[in-house]
Amino acid sequence: MKTLLLTWWTWYIGSHNAVLLLEQWYNIIIFDNLSNSSRYILKSIQQIVTASSLNQVGIEVGELKFYKWDLRNKNDLNIVFSENTIDTVIHFAGLKAVWESCEKPQEYYENNVVGSMNLFSMMEQYNCKNIIFSSSATVYEPTQTPPFSENTLTGNTTNPYGTSKFIIENILRDLAHHKDFKVINLRYFNPIGAHSSWLIGEDPSDIPNNLLPYIMKVATGELQSLWVYGNDYDTIDWTGIRDYIHVVDLAAWHLSALNFLSQQQDSIFETFNLWTWTGTSVMEMIQYTQDIIWEDLSYNIISRRDGDIASAYCSPQKAQNILWWKAKKTVQDAITDSWNFIKNKKY
Ligand code: WQD
Repeated sequence: MKTLLLTWWTWYIGSHNAVLLLEQWYNIIIFDNLSNSSRYILKSIQQIVTASSLNQVGIEVGELKFYKWDLRNKNDLNIVFSENTIDTVIHFAGLKAVWESCEKPQEYYENNVVGSMNLFSMMEQYNCKNIIFSSSATVYEPTQTPPFSENTLTGNTTNPYGTSKFIIENILRDLAHHKDFKVINLRYFNPIGAHSSWLIGEDPSDIPNNLLPYIMKVATGELQSLWVYGNDYDTIDWTGIRDYIHVVDLAAWHLSALNFLSQQQDSIFETFNLWTWTGTSVMEMIQYTQDIIWEDLSYNIISRRDGDIASAYCSPQKAQNILWWKAKKTVQDAITDSWNFIKNKKY
C-alpha cells in the first residue's frame, strides 16, 4: 500500500481527493496549517470513507494521518518526511484567489513559491521524486485566445497568483530535467461543486473571493447581494466566462494522473489541462442557480475586477487521451451538490 503526502489538502479540492484516494486503498498523510479549514473535515472524510467500506464488502480503505503544520517551515516538513516513507506528493498547497493576490503579492509568493521550494528540497533530501502539482490556467499568456491547449503560450501573467504558479511550474520542469523528478503538472481553473454525500464542499469562513461560493452565501441570505464584476467583456452576455469543473471529476482525474505517474520509468514533466471545454458566463451561473434553488438572487453590476480576463476555457483532449478520464458532471450538477452541501453543513 503506497503512502501519499497531500499538502494543504483541506483546501476543498484536497479533501475530495483524500476521500477518493483512501477509497482506493492509499495511505494519506495530510499536511495543512488549517488556515482556511477546520478539523471537522477530517471527521467528515472518515465518515464518508467508512461508509464506502461498509457498503462494499471486501473493500479496504487506506489510513489517514494528519499534521497541522506549515510548508513555510522546513523543520515541520523534515519531521513528516523522516517519520514516513512517502511515495508521491500531491501538491495542492497555496493561496488561490486572483484578486487577493493583487492585494497581497508578497504573501502569495511566500506561501506558494517559498513553501513549494521547501517541499521540493525536502523531497530531494528524502529521495521522494514523484509529484503531482496543482497548477492553473492563469499561467496562459493573456493575449492567447481560448480554447487553450497544453502548448498554448504561457507567461506574462496578469496577477501574482498566476505568476506564482508559473514560477513553480518552471522550477519543477528544471527538477525533472536536472534532478530526475517525475512531475505531472495539472492545470485547472474553476473547480466547483461538492461530494455527493454533501459532507464536504466549499464554504469559506470569510467573504468568498470566488463566484459560486459567493452566490451560495447570497442564496442562504448570509450575504445580501452579488457583485458582478464587469459587463463590458467581449463575451456572449458581456460578463466573464470560465470553465467550471465539478470537484469530484477533478479528483478522479488526479487518480488517473497518479496511475500514469506510477507507470513512468524515467524522469518526466508532463502537463495536462483538466477542464471541460464548456464556458459559462457569470450571468449564466446566476440563472442556473436561480433555477436550482427556485429563488431570485440579488446582484449588482460593477466595474471589472483587477487581474481578471474575459474568457478562459480549454480543450481537455490530451488528458482524455492519455489519462483516460472524461468529466462526467455538468455545471448544474455542481451547483446542485454545492447547494445541498451548504444546506446540510454541520460546521
Ligand atoms: C469567476 C468569474 C469574476 C466573484 C479562479 C480561482 C483561482 C484559479 C483561477 C485554479 C470571473 C466573476 C467572481 C464575484 C463575479 N484556479 N465574479 N463576482 O477569477 O477565474 O479564479 O481560477 O488554479 O484559484 O480563484 O474565479 O470564481 O473568482 O471568478 O462577478 O463575486 O466570476 O469576475 O469572471 P477566477 P472566480
